[in-house]
Amino acid sequence: MKKEKVEKKYLVAVTGASGMLFLQPFLRLLGEQGVIVHGICSDAGRDVLSFEEGLIPEDLPVVSQWFDLHDFSAPPSSGSSGYSGMVVLPCSMGTLAAIACGLSINLIHRAADVLLKERKKLILAVRETPFNRTHLQNMLQAHDAGAIICPPMPGFYLKPQSLEAAAETFAWRLADQIGMPVTSRKCWGDKEEC
Ligand SMILES: Cc1cc2nc3c(=O)[nH]c(=O)nc-3n(C[C@H](O)[C@H](O)[C@H](O)COP(=O)(O)O)c2cc1C
Repeated sequence: MKKEKVEKKYLVAVTGASGMLFLQPFLRLLGEQGVIVHGICSDAGRDVLSFEEGLIPEDLPVVSQWFDLHDFSAPPSSGSSGYSGMVVLPCSMGTLAAIACGLSINLIHRAADVLLKERKKLILAVRETPFNRTHLQNMLQAHDAGAIICPPMPGFYLKPQSLEAAAETFAWRLADQIGMPVTSRKCWGDKEEC
């Protein structure tokens, strides 16, 4: 009997940190790989997305379904829903703290908790500057629980010519972290693409 191909599913969570510019290049990259992308956005995430990009989450490309932040009966609440990974982009210090402490106050925190217990990839694109001691401790705690701390820092050595191009270099690094090969990308050491 022919087995059906199971498409990979990823969760993208948007929280109220600065750096919404990084979202679209990463979502487009996921779209190019043909994976399923679901989203959750915090209330502060909606505000900052509107302020920085003039968008609502539902305007963003590639995400086929947005879950309500307080709907604990939504699929991301359960390990059985089969997400391959979750990226919190950008990740506020408040959400980082909740994830580091295992609080499940909203669906973003709960989904992150689930991904960690299922030993799946959880990438936190934490954004604040400078960091205080609590932020640093929470990052270490989340790291020790299995999360990958991946702040949105573009690869300037790749000489991006615009803010969008800089954001794309970070999207490639996120793809690396979730184990997604991207064919058309720049790498250090290659003249053109790798
Ligand atoms: C324009 C704007 C930019 C912000 N940037 C950051 C930031 O970079 N990092 C951060 O931790 N919080 C930032 N905040 C504050 C968070 O939005 C706030 O702490 C919020 O409670 C986070 O909630 P959430 O984690 O549920 O999204 C910002 C707020 C605004 C209005």
